[in-house]
Amino acid sequence: MQPLPSLIHDLHPPTSTFSSDTIFEQSLTSIFGDARNQHGEPGEFVLYTPSDSTYLHNTNSGVAIEDIKNELGVGGEDAELEELEEYVQEVLKGGRGVKLRLADAVRGETGLFASFVWNAAILAAEMLNGTAPPTLPRIDVQGKTILELGAGTALPSLVSTLLGAKAATVTDYPSEALIGNIRQNVEMNIPETLRGKVEVWGHCWGILEEQGQAEVEEGIRAPTEWVTVKKGAYDVVLAADCMWMGDQHTNLAKSIHHFLSPAGKVLAIAGFHTGRQKVADFFRVCKEEGLVLESIVEVDVEGGTREWEESRGWEDPVERKRWLTVGVLGK
Ligand SMILES: C[S@@+](CC[C@H](N)C(=O)[O-])C[C@H]1O[C@@H](n2cnc3c(N)ncnc32)[C@H](O)[C@@H]1O
Repeated sequence: MQPLPSLIHDLHPPTSTFSSDTIFEQSLTSIFGDARNQHGEPGEFVLYTPSDSTYLHNTNSGVAIEDIKNELGVGGEDAELEELEEYVQEVLKGGRGVKLRLADAVRGETGLFASFVWNAAILAAEMLNGTAPPTLPRIDVQGKTILELGAGTALPSLVSTLLGAKAATVTDYPSEALIGNIRQNVEMNIPETLRGKVEVWGHCWGILEEQGQAEVEEGIRAPTEWVTVKKGAYDVVLAADCMWMGDQHTNLAKSIHHFLSPAGKVLAIAGFHTGRQKVADFFRVCKEEGLVLESIVEVDVEGGTREWEESRGWEDPVERKRWLTVGVLGK
């Protein structure tokens, strides 16, 4: 597996890459080896290419935008963007990448952290794609029904659909900005012939009564009967970087348990940037809600794995940020 941050390429105009913030971030990365765990900017676009992309390289290397520009012999700024867009379209047509729009930042909703792609989602995509280290569990989505909770850009759902899932339901907090953006990402990446397999709904974790759903805006929220009809209906439930709010653990675990089929699998991944304790607490709450933790492992952004530990004493925040937990749950 290529390092997770190297699989996401910013597609915003080159001029905006020279903001002082970006330069500061880049210097942190190079001076302190600080792994980026969130990618993109609200309202901007990024391209995900899996580790085994072979479009420009026949080796197992990820595609870097700088390489693309060199390859294309790109000239002036406008030409550069045009050529870049052409390249992106080629990648999408060939099914070798996924173009993602990041949701606009809306006042009052920035605390949801939905306007970025997080490393957890990239790792989920790599695992589904079969390009993650073999030490990680294999989740087969072919012919399966998929539910994603707290989807953000919906990268894992899009990859699942392109890989042959039977149907995918993508959900996030019921906000126009988030749900509208996910629908746009579906349109950009899923060919019309497959689009009928994907539905996108607002679902607030833990709201499992039809009445509660009805309080959310029509057209954004899942239809009122959805929570009942889809009870126990999903073979695979995906949750990437959804564990950082302790007061939402029970709600999230309740939604997972409600929608998961009796023999279904949950892939729950989270980075440690919000602390190890939060992750440990979430898996404990899952058990209390009737879920069984089948496997759990720690993986770093470069694919190194080690055993899961509930506590590792004091952890250097920069080092800690390089690690994620991958949990597989069942009923
Ligand atoms: C850190 S982001 C992760 C986004 C995406 N899964 C990823 O890894 O790139 C957390 C996601 O959980 C969603 N979320 C937060 N609270 C929620 C709630 N109570 N109900 C539903 N979704 C929620 C946010 O809108 C956001 O998309």
